[in-house]
Amino acid sequence: MVYADRAAVDRAVAALGALPPLVTSFEIEKLRRLIAEAQEGKRFLLQGGDCAEQIADCRPEAITAKLKILLQMSVVLIHGSKRPVIRIGRFAGQYAKPRSSSTESRDIGGQRISLPSYYGDLVNGAAFDDESRRPDPWRLVEGYKHAALTINFVRSLLDGGFADLHHPEYWELGFMRHAGLPEDLRRAYHEMTERLSDGLRFMEAIGEKSVDDLTRVEFFTSHEGLNLLYESAQTRTVPRRQGWFNLSTHLPWIGERTRALDGAHVEYFRGIRNPVGIKVGPGVLPDELLALLDRLDPHNEPGRAVAITRMGVANIAGALPPLLRAAQRAGRRVLWVCDPMHGNPVTTSTGRKTRSFDHILRELEDCWDIHRAEGSTLGGVHLELTGEDVTECIGGRGGNGVTEADLSRNFASPCDPRLNYEQSMELAFVLARRMGAATRTDSAK
Ligand code: PEP
Ligand code: CO
Repeated sequence: MVYADRAAVDRAVAALGALPPLVTSFEIEKLRRLIAEAQEGKRFLLQGGDCAEQIADCRPEAITAKLKILLQMSVVLIHGSKRPVIRIGRFAGQYAKPRSSSTESRDIGGQRISLPSYYGDLVNGAAFDDESRRPDPWRLVEGYKHAALTINFVRSLLDGGFADLHHPEYWELGFMRHAGLPEDLRRAYHEMTERLSDGLRFMEAIGEKSVDDLTRVEFFTSHEGLNLLYESAQTRTVPRRQGWFNLSTHLPWIGERTRALDGAHVEYFRGIRNPVGIKVGPGVLPDELLALLDRLDPHNEPGRAVAITRMGVANIAGALPPLLRAAQRAGRRVLWVCDPMHGNPVTTSTGRKTRSFDHILRELEDCWDIHRAEGSTLGGVHLELTGEDVTECIGGRGGNGVTEADLSRNFASPCDPRLNYEQSMELAFVLARRMGAATRTDSAK
């Protein structure tokens, strides 16, 4: 992907560099402390949102739906794990997408047309025409402004009490009642939220101080740090703190396609104080992982390294254990997070790219079991999901969910398929059950 007009790029970057930051170093340091606790098994991290956030989706309904689904899932996970959950949205800046091919071809009116691929709203437009697909540097500024609008709305909702754990009814999704969420899950969810609210009221009644900490719901933001023009323009020093901070997001991550040891992305990430997510695919060998950690986290600092494994259900049993052992042997502090989405692409007979809920669930369950077997801890999950009623991944609801034929009904993602509301909740319940069973076994020991 190349911008045609160098002077226009310089103008956009200068504009971006002059705007105020989206997050603060205080929040970033706070997240590092929370991640450090998660690395010790004291917290669980839930990271989720769109594959490609879209500027057109910077709407109140879409933003609240994302917060709601993450909130609901976090309640289920708190219940299962008996640990506080760190909530991180793939939002307020998840506008840049890596592509495996630089061009996309389609048959239109009997003609084969090839155009540059869609690289996310930060770079070009998703519509399949010349004008939209031309990279436009001013989109860096537009993306940034929409990230600011999103984060502003999220912060006001949270400050205003939208996410108050005493009032789970605020974050019920409108279609929840008539959505196909199986009755037993719906009941289990309601029981959980009631028990949670009762517990909070009881603790308040007896004057428990820590209740404030429990009820304060925080969200952090994250996105793939792909477009280094965007990331560097917002990378700054701050008074009275050492080092450089990427102030466009709390948790930027390095994608599977850009984690080359001697590449520009690793070089950039090496220099910032934010916690760093590293996508780790099945091709990463133990020595490569250790070299990446040495480069990105030379002092093995608490709260710095977050390894997001995305192996694929067919590869995880072979690929993950050697990495866990190598990190353990090296005494590495790592928060291990499972991304069961990106290693499991499926193409239907009609050529549509989708994912199977069954594969996603199995990778997550296998990941949990492998960590247990290796004496390691799975500390989080990274998902592509939406609170809206889309049909993008096949399966769910015990095999009676979205079918291949349903995919055309509401496939709204311009990029990878996301879990819909029901699928996300089902996955949260299965994971919570796994974690609950483990907590019971551990405390019985
Ligand atoms: C993504 O998270 O959307 C993504 C492209 O992931 P990966 O780099 O792991 O393929
Ligand atoms: Co994706």
